[in-house]
Amino acid sequence: MKRKISQSERKKLSAGRLQKSSQKPKDLKVHARSQGQWTWTKTGFFCFCILSVSIPILLHLFSGSIDLSQPSDIGLNHTINIYLKPEEGVKVGVWHTVPEHRWKEAQGKDLDWYEKALGDGSPIFIYLHGNGGNRSAPHRIGIANVLSALGYHVLALDYRGFGDSTGEPTEAGLTTDSVYLYHWVKERSGNSLVCVWGHSIGSGVTTNTAVKLLEQGKQFDGIILEGAFISGRGARNHPIEHPFTWFYWKFPYIQFFLFNPLKNNKYTFPTDENLQKLRTPLMILHAEDDHIVPFASAQEIYRIAKKAQNSDEHVKLVRFDGSLGYLHNGLYKDPDLPDIIREFVQSLMT
Ligand SMILES: *[C@@H]1O[C@H](CO)[C@@H](O)[C@H](O)[C@H]1NC(C)=O
Ligand SMILES: *[C@@H]1O[C@H](CO)[C@@H](O)[C@H](O)[C@H]1NC(C)=O
Repeated sequence: MKRKISQSERKKLSAGRLQKSSQKPKDLKVHARSQGQWTWTKTGFFCFCILSVSIPILLHLFSGSIDLSQPSDIGLNHTINIYLKPEEGVKVGVWHTVPEHRWKEAQGKDLDWYEKALGDGSPIFIYLHGNGGNRSAPHRIGIANVLSALGYHVLALDYRGFGDSTGEPTEAGLTTDSVYLYHWVKERSGNSLVCVWGHSIGSGVTTNTAVKLLEQGKQFDGIILEGAFISGRGARNHPIEHPFTWFYWKFPYIQFFLFNPLKNNKYTFPTDENLQKLRTPLMILHAEDDHIVPFASAQEIYRIAKKAQNSDEHVKLVRFDGSLGYLHNGLYKDPDLPDIIREFVQSLMT
């Protein structure tokens, strides 16, 4: 109603001007054109508002929900779903993907076969994902596919409170879940390499887990951190409520997509202090154009870890050119990634 009134008023107004400026047809044309532009701008803006509200809602409503207990539903033909109980009353979902060259063999196989397969001598990666969503997110499957194609096993965990995993997602709880998964894997993996891949917030869980294992006299054979963040020492004394808050502020409707279990919990992820303690070979992967965790974060992790390990060979930083457009989640698309990972894993064997 308001819009209509103001529009008709504007019409009257312009009609008035039309009379006044009747001797100046040139002006008139300019005015008519600018009014047309104004209307288009308004219509465009209105459409933009409608679309930016409705598209996420529609996507949310109509994108078929993925059943995490059935990875084969989405074409993962050598992946099985398992549930582990890291603690009384907590059940977490994990996808175990066997090396791709075993996909035919894997058809119709049960949990038992997959557990035995874990001891086949192939390197094993525990994949610790970032905040939001669950183990079926395309960029997470993307990394699992790269690792599997290289001939490795992948165990992708949904921490407590994520996906179909039960429980409350606290920082300590996330660490407990991944420590538990490590032991579960080690009981079945024989002498195979067991590495960990932490993405985004999963990098914080990764170093927490590595330090916990160190206290138990254990360690990962290798650590890969992708899009890893580090919070300054100052932040340590004031636990971050949500380091990505600015991101949600910029794109408020992103909340529709990202079920975000961590948002109500305080956490610290003392990555810098953890890195001081670790002596595990480390590879840091980061895109220069990462819009969520700035590249400087990777450089800082690299600096701290290299100093702590006093070694150029044990700590590597691989930078992905900003022009490739990988941002925070897209490294799995890089054609050179398989070689980079293979080289790292081979360096662990010698
Ligand atoms: C997991 O994420 C997918 C999208 O990748 C979604 O369809 C599904 O509903 C989610 N499941 C749970 C239990 O969160
Ligand atoms: C199963 O997955 C493998 C590797 O991803 C693929 O090469 C193969 O074509 C798939 N097989 C079927 C029947 O979908």
